[in-house]
Parts: sequence; C-alpha cells; structure tokens
Amino acid sequence: MAMEEASRPWRYEQVAERLAEAMAAGTLRPGDRLPSVRQLSLRERVSISTVLQAYLHLESLGLVETRPQSGHYVRRRERPRPEEPRVSRPPTTAKPPSNSALVARVYRAARDERMVQLGAAVPAPELLPGPRLHRDMVMLSRQRPDAIGYDMPPGCLELRRQVARRALDWGCSLSPDDFITTCGATEAVYLSLAAVARAGDTVAIESPAYYGTLQAMELLGLRALELPSHPRHGLELDALETALDKRRVAAVLVVPSFSNPLGACMPEENRARLVAMLARREIPLIEDDLYGDLHHGLERARTCKSFDREGLVLLCGSVSKTLAPGFRVGWVAPGRFQERLELLKFAHTVATPTLPQLVVARFLASGGYDKHLRTLRRRLASQVERMTEAICEHFPEGTRVSRPSGGSLLWVELPPTVDALVLHARALEAGISIAPGHIFSAQPRYTNCIRLNCGQAWSPRLEAAMATLGSLARTLA
Ligand SMILES: Cc1ncc(COP(=O)(O)O)c(C=O)c1O
Repeated sequence: MAMEEASRPWRYEQVAERLAEAMAAGTLRPGDRLPSVRQLSLRERVSISTVLQAYLHLESLGLVETRPQSGHYVRRRERPRPEEPRVSRPPTTAKPPSNSALVARVYRAARDERMVQLGAAVPAPELLPGPRLHRDMVMLSRQRPDAIGYDMPPGCLELRRQVARRALDWGCSLSPDDFITTCGATEAVYLSLAAVARAGDTVAIESPAYYGTLQAMELLGLRALELPSHPRHGLELDALETALDKRRVAAVLVVPSFSNPLGACMPEENRARLVAMLARREIPLIEDDLYGDLHHGLERARTCKSFDREGLVLLCGSVSKTLAPGFRVGWVAPGRFQERLELLKFAHTVATPTLPQLVVARFLASGGYDKHLRTLRRRLASQVERMTEAICEHFPEGTRVSRPSGGSLLWVELPPTVDALVLHARALEAGISIAPGHIFSAQPRYTNCIRLNCGQAWSPRLEAAMATLGSLARTLA
C-alpha cells in the first residue's frame, strides 16, 4: 500500500502536466501569461504552495519563465526547435555486427575522468542516491554475513519480490518466481539472445541500435537485421512485418521506452500490435526496458510484456540508469524460456553478487525509490532541454536533433559532410567525450551522427563544452 501511495504523482505534478499539455497542444502559446497563483489554486482546488511548486517544476523543465512583479509566462524559445532526424532507412540485408573493437577504442580514449563526459549513457553520480546506498551496504554487510556466499539462480528473493511488485506499474502481473537476477541488463540481454537464437541466426533490431546489443550479437555469432525506426515512435512495424514475411527471424529485440540512441518511445498500440504479430509467428521478443522508469511526463508506458499471453516476451531491466550502474544489478523475466535462462545464467556467471542485490531490494522496499525517480526525471528532462538549446545555439545549420520524451540521450544528425569519428577525435583533444554514430549500426551508417548524454547537471563548464563541440562540428560541416 505504501508503495502504491508513493508511486502516485504528486498534486503539483498533475497541475504542471495539465499546463504542459495545453502548451504542447498550442492552447497556451509562447509568451502567453499563465493564470496567477491564486487563480490557479482556485481553479485546480489546490493550495497556493502546490501551484508554486507546479510553476517551479515547469520552470525547471524550461517551459515557463517567471517575470518579477509580473507573473508566470510560457517561455519563448530563442530559436525554433531543430528538425528531428528522419526515419532511418537501413539496408534490408542482415549482417553480423563487428563493431566491438571500434567501441572499445572509442571508450578507452574517453577514460580520463577530467573529460566532459557526454559519451557514456549514465546519470551523473550527484543525481543518484550514492550515500544512502553506501550506508545500506555497510549496514547489510553486518546484518547478513551470509551475503559473501554464492546467490544461486534465480537469485536474491528479496530483490525479485521487489521487482515483481514494481512490475505492477509496468502493467504486468508477475511473481518473484518469474524473475532471474543478472549482472545488469547487459547480461539479461545476452542470456536472452543466447536462449532464443543460435550462431548464424538473424535477430531483428531497431536502427540505430545500442552498441552493446550489437556487441552481444557479435559475440554470439548472430546476424543483425536492422529495421527502419522513427525518431519518436521507434521500430516501424510495417517494415518488420514485411521482413518477417520474407525471411526467417529467430527473435526481435527492442528498447520500446526511450531507446538508445534515438530516445524513441513506442506507442502503446504499437506495443500491442508487435506482441500480437510475433505471437502469431511464435517469434520471441526480447524487451530491453532499461529506461522505462525515466519518462519525463507523468505516465510510465506499459511494457510489451504486459500484452504477452504466450510467454514469448523476455523482459530485461536493471537499476543502472536509476540507482547504481556499478552495482551491476539487473533481471530478466524470460517467460517460457525460464528454465533455459536459469541454466545459461549458471553457466555464464554462476551468480549475481549478493550484497548489491540486497541493497537495491532494501531501497526499493523503503518506498524512497519513487521520490528519487521523480527528482531524477525532472532533472533529466530539464537537462535534455538545456542541451537541446545549446545545440540550437552552437551547432551547424542543418543539424537535426531527437526529441525524447524520457531518458537522457540526444541523437544528433549533423550535416552529411561531418565525419563523426573525426569529430570524436577532435573533441577528445579538447577534453570532451562523445559517442560517434558509427558504433550504433552493424552497417557503415550514421557516420555523420553523434549521441550525447544529458546526464550531467547544466553548468558553465558544460555550456563551454557544448560551444566548443559546436564550433568543431561547424569546421567539419
Ligand atoms: C539499451 C541498453 N541496454 C542495456 C544497457 C546496459 O545496461 P546495464 O548497465 O544494466 O548492463 C544499456 C546501457 O547503456 C542500454 O542503453
């Protein structure tokens, strides 16, 4: 019950969301004066402090500005939003990925902690509850001397209980027995691929795709069939259906909520259609829901798993983007592949480290997770907005930028003459790490694109880095 209470949006968020919707619909336009605090409090039947909090929230999202002695106004953008990237059109041939060496080179070069880190997709440590998690780690290491032992698959029961409770928010009715804990989503996805496909098989994925998925496929000897993807809605289902009619596909792997790198969020009706389409053909769906909790709006999207009646969806997740990437705590709900997954987990890493799982379970049980998420989401939404503005200001004309409704990633399509690997090298010399588009496809594509992480709090240092990056891109355009 405490958990249900905690997961309900605050009143101020509901008020803010209604105003944000009116702005998105054009009912409230840039420069319009918003109702006074008193008017809004009467209209919404909420307290003055709730209205003030709602306005503060909208301000932090960059949607509202406060003019002293005058009131609150819909913020005018100094520049119009850049266009979004076009729907991707990858070749229709499946290819074995071979990017691992390039990925390793790109990330090895960016290891220097003094760099402005725009390359890795992680929230800044200040946004995560590190001190609290460390305290719990010390406490649990005293209370649970057994935690130095192996925690055999399916893994920590306390954690599986908590994740199963949270699954209600994802539209799923799952029990702790439906989950296996893993070393991050990386292992969950890897084991899922290994469970449903064999070397030489083809797996259909979004394009551009998370390079870690491509690496897992490379290791397993799988072929990647990259499919057209919409910058806001993700995988194009008509293209998938056509592909499935033509060739044998062993599995489909998607990141339906705030994909990496596009930040796309698949509409609910598409999720239902995808699950039904695959169920008819008995094709497993690997759903990587790593970013599902990081929606900028009020509602968390239902998972594809919530539409699954056949046990064909393998749902993967972790706490890497919300609590502690270094804990390596993840999970998979593998549906009908449970037994195979459990066997593979044992063969792969025997067990998931015990203590971090206990710490995460305790944090989830405390109810503090929802409060933490609310703040994290708000911060990420405002950071995405600020970074977008900086791109508008500094990057070359013709640059296109994604408009994610969750997560912390921006996909930036630069003019065609820009080679993202050259930009990456020059940015490194200037102390800035970025992720070049090359690593997000098994094909020679996205060579003029970069992915930027908006996990860092906005600061003069970040502003200067974005100005430098923009000017480097302009010299290559
Ligand atoms: C889509 C996606 N899946 C999986 C991972 C890996 O997550 P984890 O750190 O939980 O292994 C990432 C990390 O960036 C990701 O973006």
